[in-house]
Amino acid sequence: MRVLVTGGAGFIGSHIVTALVEHGHEPVVLDALLPAAHPTAAHPDPPSAGGEWIHADVRDRGAVVAALRGVDAVCHQAAMVGLGKDFADAPAYVGCNDLGTAVLLAAMAECGVRELVLAGSMVVYGEGRYDCPRHGRVRPGPRAEADLAAGRFDPRCPECGTPLRPGLVGEDAPADPRNVYATTKLAQEHLAAAWARAVGGRAVSLRYHNVYGPGMPRDTPYAGVASFFRSALARGEAPTVFEDGGQRRDFIHVRDVAAANVAALEAAPEVVAPSALTAYNTGSDDPHTVGEMAMALATAFGGPAPVVTGGYRLGDVRHITASSRRIRERLGWRPAVSFHEGMTEFAHAPQRAGV
Ligand SMILES: NC(=O)c1ccc[n+]([C@@H]2O[C@H](COP(=O)([O-])OP(=O)(O)OC[C@H]3O[C@@H](n4cnc5c(N)ncnc54)[C@H](O)[C@@H]3O)[C@@H](O)[C@H]2O)c1
Ligand SMILES: [Zn+2]
Repeated sequence: MRVLVTGGAGFIGSHIVTALVEHGHEPVVLDALLPAAHPTAAHPDPPSAGGEWIHADVRDRGAVVAALRGVDAVCHQAAMVGLGKDFADAPAYVGCNDLGTAVLLAAMAECGVRELVLAGSMVVYGEGRYDCPRHGRVRPGPRAEADLAAGRFDPRCPECGTPLRPGLVGEDAPADPRNVYATTKLAQEHLAAAWARAVGGRAVSLRYHNVYGPGMPRDTPYAGVASFFRSALARGEAPTVFEDGGQRRDFIHVRDVAAANVAALEAAPEVVAPSALTAYNTGSDDPHTVGEMAMALATAFGGPAPVVTGGYRLGDVRHITASSRRIRERLGWRPAVSFHEGMTEFAHAPQRAGV
C-alpha cells in the first residue's frame, strides 16, 4: 500500500514510516519541519529511513495534491502539539491542525483517496471518568486553584464534594476539550467525520494516550512529561514531579503506536465503518501514576531520585486513563512493550534536539 504520512519527520510519524517499510508498504512523507518540532533549522531531522520525502505544509493544497499521486491511504500525523506558551499561540494551532486537516481532506476528496487514519488524542476527553460512592458516574469541572494550592488534587463530586474514584474512559464518553490544542484535535475528528460522510470515505481516529520512547523531543513547551523527566536526568538533575505525583496516566510506547497505525491502515473494510469516523483509544491499559513513571525512569537511569514538589499547572487534568478494548477487539492490535521495558529503554534512548 502506498501511504502518505503527514508529519512523517516527527516523533511518532518517523516510527510509523519505519513500521510501514517493515510491513512492505510504501510511505511518502510530507512534513513542513516546523521550527517548534525541529529547532535545529540548519540541520533539520532527516526524514526516517525509507520512503519518499516532500518538504511542504499540509495547508499547501497544490503540494498535497501532488503528494497524493498514486496514494491508497493517508496517515495524518502533522500537527502542532503540546500546550504551547500562552493563548497567543491559538491561531497557529488552529491553522496547522484544523485548516491543515481541511486542506488535506479537500485534496483527498479531489484525488479520490478514501482511506484516512488520523492521529487523535485522549485530550478530547478532558478529565477522565469518575465515580462518586453516592452519586455514581459524575463529570467534575476544572479544578479550583484554591483546592490545588491547598494540596487537594483529586476532583470532588459536584453534588456532595466527596473525593472521586477514577475509572477508565471509553470512546463514547462525551468530549470535553480543556485547551486550544485539545479543541483542535477534536475539530480534526469532526472534519474527518464530515469528509467521510461527504465522500463515502473511511476514517479512523487513534486517540493516543501519553506516547513516549526513542526520538521523543527534549524538553520544550510542546513535549510530554516523560521527556521533561528524561531531560532532567540527562542534565544530572532530579525529575520534579507536580502535585503529589498521584496523577494517573496511560503511557504507551511509540513503537506500539506505530503498530496501531499499521493495523488501522491494513484493517479490512468490514471492520472499519464506511462513511464515518471510528475512534479507538490507543493506550496500554496499564495505568501508572506520574510519580511511578518518574521513579521508573530515574531508577533505570541510575538516579537522582525524583522530587515531588506539590506545584501545579492550572488546567492540568488529574487522571486520564482509558480502556483500549475496542482496538484490541476490532483491529487485533495489542501493545508489545511493557511499562517497565519501555521506561528502561527510554532512560537511555536518544532524544531529539530541543528548542
Ligand atoms: N506525543 C504524544 O504523546 C501524542 C499524544 C496524542 C496525540 N498525538 C498526536 O500525534 C501526532 C504526532 O505528534 P508527535 O508527538 O510526533 O509530534 P512532532 O511535533 O514530533 O511531530 C509532528 C510533525 O508534524 C509536522 N507538522 C506540523 N504541522 C505541519 C503542517 N501544517 N504541515 C506539515 N507538517 C506539519 C512537524 O514538523 C512535525 O515533524 C500529532 O497529530 C499529535 O497531535 C501525540
Ligand atoms: Zn457525590
